[in-house]
Amino acid sequence: MAEIALLQGKRIILGVCGSIAVYKAVDLASKLTQAGAQVDVIMTEAAQRFVRPLTFQAVSGRPVYTDMWRAENSGGLPSHIAHIGLAEGADLLMIAPATANTLAKLAGGFADDLLSVTALAAGCPLLVAPAMDGGMVEHPAVIDNLDALRRRGAHLIEPESGRLASGLTGGGRLPETSTLIGHIRRVLGLDGELSGHKLVVTAGGTREALDPVRYLSNRSSGKQGFAIAQAGIDAGADVILISAAEARPPLVGATRLAVDSAQSMMEAVLAQVADSSALIMAAAVADYRPRSVSEQKIKKADDSLTLPLERNPDILMAVKAQREKTGYPMIVVGFAAESENLVENASGKLQDKGLDLLVANDISASDAGFAVDTNRVVVLDMDGGLHKIELTSKAAIGAYIIERVGGLLA
Ligand code: CTP
Repeated sequence: MAEIALLQGKRIILGVCGSIAVYKAVDLASKLTQAGAQVDVIMTEAAQRFVRPLTFQAVSGRPVYTDMWRAENSGGLPSHIAHIGLAEGADLLMIAPATANTLAKLAGGFADDLLSVTALAAGCPLLVAPAMDGGMVEHPAVIDNLDALRRRGAHLIEPESGRLASGLTGGGRLPETSTLIGHIRRVLGLDGELSGHKLVVTAGGTREALDPVRYLSNRSSGKQGFAIAQAGIDAGADVILISAAEARPPLVGATRLAVDSAQSMMEAVLAQVADSSALIMAAAVADYRPRSVSEQKIKKADDSLTLPLERNPDILMAVKAQREKTGYPMIVVGFAAESENLVENASGKLQDKGLDLLVANDISASDAGFAVDTNRVVVLDMDGGLHKIELTSKAAIGAYIIERVGGLLA
């Protein structure tokens, strides 16, 4: 697990309850620690029947808290105030898995174990991931308790449906670690520098249909666009992700609009930017589409086939025209995929398309650009500024772009 800037030095209290999903909480504690967070685990008594505290201690590298009465189980804090010490200065209290019993305690304000008492003492955001078997999650008592927590401002993670430990199929599964971390990032980012700003990000290569089974497209994977969207969520923005990259996993905290062709992407972009702070156009938009789409599958016939193509509209040019009339979006960031004369071609695009920033990729390198996790870019601005970013993760480039957008909006 790579480090996550947002999680660096964050203090997360992870409350763990007695559910078979505890094994996923071990992975969560491990990944959060690897990502740079300081994870203090509190286990309920029932949780310890599934997994020993030593397991969490090993992955978090920190003492594990289990008992409010016994000093040796209070992680070095005097036992009677362990909950205060833990709650003080914490950035997040996450309870995963949260059982029906602990939810009832939280909803009722009970304070009879270290976790419930810490929940009362903690002033930080509370993020709860319920997990339970056999339809318990649909019981009115559980629903009422979740409603009570939601009303008080707690953030809830919807349990997933699927196979449960009992062998039954239904709702109540704890989501995978990546999803849980997505929720943590969303909650920790809420007061970030783009809080209150709507950000529209496009990602992936558009698909231009030829017939019911074929399309013309390009090698864009959508990774850079998704990394920018994630950085936007980390900064607290309200992110609309207009994605032609249908294979990419969901991104927690973004509203994802699936599109395919350049035309459908343009319609979505023009509608979404009408009230947005910024547009970041990371998608690889096809410049041409087949002149006609065959209703039936095209059959092979001759030795060669010529496909007449026609120009697609340029989405950024359409945005420029709309922005001149309405003032929105306030900031526009474009990309340039170049295989030669990078800076020269890129600055031409910056001017023509009326961009505030342009991120230029050299797509001829195999370790940067399409479909890999790393990138190397030059960022140009309208004042002639030029900032080179040597080979790094797409996440780091996403964070840099978001920081620049934040600077322009400030
Ligand atoms: N773009 C767009 N609409 C298009 C084509 C591209 O909005 N029909 C956007 C891309 O999302 C990118 C920027 O324009 O942000 C530059 O895309 P790029 O493919 O590098 O350049 P083009 O303008 O298509 O020019 P060329 O392909 O001739 O280099």
